[in-house]
Amino acid sequence: MANLIEIETARLRLRQWRDADDAPFAALNADAEVMRYFPAPLSRAESDGLAARCREKIDRLGWGFWACERKADGTFIGFVGLNVPAAALPFSPCVEIGWRLAREAWGQGFATEGARSALAVGFGQLGLEEIVSFTALGNQRSRAVMERLGMHEDALGFEHPALPEGHPLRRHRLYRLPRADWEAGAHRPG
Ligand SMILES: CC(C)(COP(=O)(O)OP(=O)(O)OC[C@H]1O[C@@H](n2cnc3c(N)ncnc32)[C@H](O)[C@@H]1OP(=O)(O)O)[C@@H](O)C(=O)NCCC(=O)NCCS
Repeated sequence: MANLIEIETARLRLRQWRDADDAPFAALNADAEVMRYFPAPLSRAESDGLAARCREKIDRLGWGFWACERKADGTFIGFVGLNVPAAALPFSPCVEIGWRLAREAWGQGFATEGARSALAVGFGQLGLEEIVSFTALGNQRSRAVMERLGMHEDALGFEHPALPEGHPLRRHRLYRLPRADWEAGAHRPG
């Protein structure tokens, strides 16, 4: 078991998952709007399985897709963090940054705030040389987070191998953030 890394930002706690997160996580994974750019909303069992995998990876590595808690009221609002994608992607090996929040937590800058701190862990403590992010075409909200973080879109994009050929979500946009760009301050607000 690795040393657990947890993050506190001005408004958020990115922490290891708890059993109590399962119900609110299942609720957001059952929301068709939250899951619009994924193949389908998740069942309770699928959602619990995803939470368990996130928790297990954090146990093993010390970092991952952390459970995201709003400090003001202790509410679980989703996840933000770093992950080694399970699928072999054209640019693997890689570490991705990702986010998924309950709809009531959108539009308040939480994803960007959590992600900035996750990048600092990735490039700082973990010493990564590059962090990537990717999303199905059309997911403008997620792209906007990537752009606010100073990530650059790769001209080529890619076809996600976990989806069958011809699936409308198979085509993905890829964003990259090399360490040098992060160090140069491209990640800073404004
Ligand atoms: C992707 C996702 C996390 C983005 O959420 P988001 O709320 O749009 O992004 P942020 O948390 O960074 O918030 C930014 C918005 O908050 C606003 N905002 C309000 N208060 C703010 C504050 N104090 N600081 C910063 N921004 C603030 C910004 O102006 C921006 O608004 P806009 O979207 O109208 O331009 C969310 O849409 C989601 O969970 N989607 C479903 C899952 C998904 O698709 N995940 C990505 C898969 S690749």
